[in-house]
Amino acid sequence: MAGSKAPIYQDPDGLERALIDLVRVGARGHAAGVRQLAGRLVRAVPPAVADAGAFRIAVHDALSAANPSKGLRFDSGAIPTDADGLHSLLNVDAVPVADEFVADERLSSELQEIVAERERADELARAGVSMSRTVLFSGPPGVGKTLASRWIAQQLELPLVTLDLASVVSSYLGSSGRNIKSVLDFAKSGPCVLFLDEFDAVAKRRDDDTDIGELKRIVNVLLVELDRWPDTSLLVAATNHPQLLDEAIDRRFDRVLKFPLPGRAERRALLAGANHGEVSVKVIELAAAAWEGRSHSVIMRFWELCRRKAILHDLALEFVVVSELIEQFPTNELRNSVWRHAHDELDMSNRKIATLAGVSHPTVATGIRQAKDTK
Ligand SMILES: Nc1ncnc2c1ncn2[C@@H]1O[C@H](COP(=O)(O)OP(=O)(O)OP(=O)(O)O)[C@@H](O)[C@H]1O
Ligand SMILES: [Mg+2]
Repeated sequence: MAGSKAPIYQDPDGLERALIDLVRVGARGHAAGVRQLAGRLVRAVPPAVADAGAFRIAVHDALSAANPSKGLRFDSGAIPTDADGLHSLLNVDAVPVADEFVADERLSSELQEIVAERERADELARAGVSMSRTVLFSGPPGVGKTLASRWIAQQLELPLVTLDLASVVSSYLGSSGRNIKSVLDFAKSGPCVLFLDEFDAVAKRRDDDTDIGELKRIVNVLLVELDRWPDTSLLVAATNHPQLLDEAIDRRFDRVLKFPLPGRAERRALLAGANHGEVSVKVIELAAAAWEGRSHSVIMRFWELCRRKAILHDLALEFVVVSELIEQFPTNELRNSVWRHAHDELDMSNRKIATLAGVSHPTVATGIRQAKDTK
């Protein structure tokens, strides 16, 4: 077209652009830049790449190969396995990608500090200050402990090695001590984030009735490892039952992070983050209030359920969310506001609301009137 310049890159999915950027930065001999671009490439694999998982691993391996003394090896010989099948309990994610993480200011800043310590490791080392090598996440189920470990690994651009201790202990007690040792050795062989899930499964207080010899051996392995853990990898352990932990274990962690249930602001942020403009601010607010005292995971499950129903029944998401709120919170103090919204904004009849809530329709009429009066 006359006057307009032809674009340099024409592919819609960025593969060409990524390659040209790599060549440009590489030709300058800018290794850090190449690493950065490679990191970007694995975080957002261009759609033209057929097998995104294999591509991520290949890019990661190419990067590690540039520095053979560093980096975990992902080939099957390097990942610990044994006749018991520990392999399946150990999950290695070469390039972890985390969903959006919602937390209050205190927890967010602690997590950011853990990342910052590693990014500024040189400064700390120069000042003779050690960084956090071992961290314990404690909190109720579904508040983001697993997600946070993934987030940290993503921020640090390190592979995430996950071991679920509960399944190790339940399935392979006979040789757990040795198995755990081999996983820890693997995690120490190159920089990574090692996530030990359900840590309380092994690190129970030693006066516990169910305690047996093998478990004691495991606890001892862990005690020694926690003390000697190297700077190169970050060990993150998670527990839902901090009260079960052996005190000797608890105080060996460099940091203990408490993961709380989401407050009102976090519930609102979680729902607003999942909402793509389909649901009004008012209904997000009502839902955030209704889910008080519940975990992030319960709230996200509710949202996903609503989305599925909206598609299956060809309904507006707002309508489904409000219907579910009416049904699930028939006695909540906010119910009148929800009913009023359903009636006034979504044209739901009192009878329909009454059926959903399991109350009589005069009760609904009264509730809606009260909501109007208090306005
Ligand atoms: N803080 C959070 N921010 C955003 N989403 C979250 C958060 N916490 C949990 N979720 C949602 O809930 C799901 C489960 O969370 P996750 O597995 O991280 O919880 P957990 O604390 O590890 O629970 P458990 O103790 O049961 O292992 C996540 O995949 C995510 O969808
Ligand atoms: Mg978890």
